[in-house]
Amino acid sequence: MDETTPAPAPSGDKARKRLFIKTYGCQMNVYDSDRMRDILHPLGYESSDTPDNADLVILNTCHIREKAAEKVYSELGRLKPLKEARAAAGGSMTVTVAGCVAQAEGAEIQRRAPVVDLVVGPQTYHKLPELIANVHRGRGEGLDTEFEVEDKFDSLAVPERQVDGYTAFVTVQEGCDKFCTFCVVPYTRGAEWSRPVDQVTAEVRQLAAKGVREITLLGQNVNAYHGAAPAADAAAGDVWGLGQLVRHLALIGGIERIRFTTSHPRDMDEDLIQAFADTPKLMPYFHLPVQSGSDKILKSMNRNHTAAEYLATIKRLREVRPDIAISGDFIVGFPGETEADFEATLDLVRQVNHAACFSFKYSRRPGTPGSAMFGQVDEAVKTERLARLQALLSEQQVAFNRSMIGKRLPVLFEREGRNAGQIAGRSPYLQSVHCDGPVSLIGEIAEVEILNASQNALGARLVPKETRAA
Ligand code: 5AD
Ligand code: SF4
Repeated sequence: MDETTPAPAPSGDKARKRLFIKTYGCQMNVYDSDRMRDILHPLGYESSDTPDNADLVILNTCHIREKAAEKVYSELGRLKPLKEARAAAGGSMTVTVAGCVAQAEGAEIQRRAPVVDLVVGPQTYHKLPELIANVHRGRGEGLDTEFEVEDKFDSLAVPERQVDGYTAFVTVQEGCDKFCTFCVVPYTRGAEWSRPVDQVTAEVRQLAAKGVREITLLGQNVNAYHGAAPAADAAAGDVWGLGQLVRHLALIGGIERIRFTTSHPRDMDEDLIQAFADTPKLMPYFHLPVQSGSDKILKSMNRNHTAAEYLATIKRLREVRPDIAISGDFIVGFPGETEADFEATLDLVRQVNHAACFSFKYSRRPGTPGSAMFGQVDEAVKTERLARLQALLSEQQVAFNRSMIGKRLPVLFEREGRNAGQIAGRSPYLQSVHCDGPVSLIGEIAEVEILNASQNALGARLVPKETRAA
């Protein structure tokens, strides 16, 4: 509790206050941070890009790998003198820890870092104004990490969203019931739950009206989506899958591109695969993590599918959308992983030919079954395997990017480029593309010809309108 904090401004008071949010981890957290900004904006909080002199600091944390939690504690250490300086100058700073570390560690955070005033789990952001007011009034525990997912979405049903640019995330699903043995998400984000189609549609319409051209549907298990069907569409059945949702959102004027992440191979169904064929607005880039190429390790990870089943899904996706770019996540050094198991992962990677991937050394997360398994792999072995895997993945990424040279691609321009006169955006395959062009094209989709490629970006030139394909 912060005894020095003055009483809050009465509600409705428009006195501007500075809000600094630092976001760690996944896109779900990026989305949640935006929603916190939206909730706090009517209370007078304006975003600031530094914690100096902030009235409210929120660290939106990630618990997925060990170092992430440790980074939060070091950041809290850095905030302490800033908070003290602000108090000495007669002001105050309220320090809040949100996100998955908050959910997992709860009161422990305030014990370890007394600089923290408030700990709030991912399901209770809608209560932030009340919780902050409680801190300000010098009462309440400032701790609320109950799971109330439906409550969260009801309260946030369709808030006024502040839009910053032409792309936006929209959470459609939260939580996870899969219990992969390495992962903390089922413990921090709770049980799987999908937002009703009408609620998602209203939010996407609002974003479209504000100029958003591309949406990314988010969920820890987004392809397990099973939201209540639209009220007006009783004949469509009670529950819709992700394929149906995507087709429905593709009808909204102004929305030109749809993506979704993250999917699980177990939840792939033919309808979603077909959506890649019949919905041109669904971009041909698919993040489908497989984690390992060894059936023994997949079993021990509780992934509930084999390497062959995963490869069959990729084959099917490529049949319906031959240009689809595949990305994924890999973990090396899961307990029991032998050199042969690791070779099986390299083998799978060679067969798939990925466009881009994330890869990690296994990190023991307390409370997960993997952390207690026999056969923990030596750190040096993990490091060496990760380097070999990343070398192969980088090679594939470079080859994929180079295969674009000479092609014409539609790019959604989102911002000015690094060099003067340049604009930058994304290809359908999520590659960063830079070219010379007028800022008037920002927010538009225009055709470019790819001239060069590096591992992380493509260089291009605009195709003059008169020579574009019809
Ligand atoms: N160790 C290493 N990587 C992990 N991931 C999740 N949990 C762990 C862990 N304990 C990775 C997985 C997942 C991605 C988001 O983070 O690859 O797909
Ligand atoms: Fe974690 Fe597995 Fe659930 Fe993904 S599917 S969030 S890796 S438990």
